[in-house]
Amino acid sequence: MAERVDLRGSEQTMLITLFLRERDARSAHPVLGDRFAAEVLARVDHDPGALRWFSSDTVTISARARRLDDWAREFLAEHPDGQVLHLGCGLDSRPLRLDRPPGARWIDVDLPRVADLRRRVYDLPDDVEVVGASVADPSWWERVDTDRPTLAVAEGLLMYLPPTDVDGVLDQLLTRCASGVLAFDAVSPWVLPVSNAAFGVTSVDTRFAWGYDRDALVARHPRLRGRDDVCVTDLGARATAGPWHLVYRGFDAVPYLRDALRLHRYAF
Ligand SMILES: C[S@@+](CC[C@H](N)C(=O)[O-])C[C@H]1O[C@@H](n2cnc3c(N)ncnc32)[C@H](O)[C@@H]1O
Repeated sequence: MAERVDLRGSEQTMLITLFLRERDARSAHPVLGDRFAAEVLARVDHDPGALRWFSSDTVTISARARRLDDWAREFLAEHPDGQVLHLGCGLDSRPLRLDRPPGARWIDVDLPRVADLRRRVYDLPDDVEVVGASVADPSWWERVDTDRPTLAVAEGLLMYLPPTDVDGVLDQLLTRCASGVLAFDAVSPWVLPVSNAAFGVTSVDTRFAWGYDRDALVARHPRLRGRDDVCVTDLGARATAGPWHLVYRGFDAVPYLRDALRLHRYAF
């Protein structure tokens, strides 16, 4: 029987990304091909009519996940003793999609209601720890190994956090962990009012609160050294053919649209 869920605010958005991964997986040419998404989505009580509203994001959201998987694979290949902090993990199957070396550590973090649901709908191996806490709560960071190389991967998370929480999370990561990689996606500041107006006409009661400003981020967190800055619609264009390819190429031709959602990778 499907799990009843009582999700609030940004917690609800992880059903959107799960729905899109399931849609991608059963498409003729999957971009991510998440083989867990269909079973997990079926285990959660949800309203497909409300989620269908977001269907046009299937390719970009799947391409975003694929690139973050690639970066996580690369990190684990370089650091088989490393530690992955999967921040705002929702119901994403990332730890199951990747080959985790036996010496690596993996910590999934999401708000308590989502973490609890995650434990119920996934049969996760023992070496995947699931923490139910806000990423901004310093207490769970006590569990983090300070000496291991650390990848913090935050997909579809930081835009929902107040700027002080984004800085708080990065302060924890960068003061506790000796070295590692930070990988995340972020929206341009102009996207905030536009997306918040769009959320207003959907049944998802949430808001974007943080927009990416490279100079401000690096000035506030000087340990960060930029490695990659990738346009998500470019990833979408490369991942698909036909009409959507042309749509994404059209987005890429307009600087504002090209910068709307980007993926960032920093070393520290
Ligand atoms: C758009 S979903 C993305 C989920 C997942 N990363 C994915 O790609 O499917 C945003 C996620 O961030 C989580 N989230 C929002 N605020 C959070 C916080 N302060 N601490 C931990 N997780 C948070 C939500 O509960 C939700 O699971």
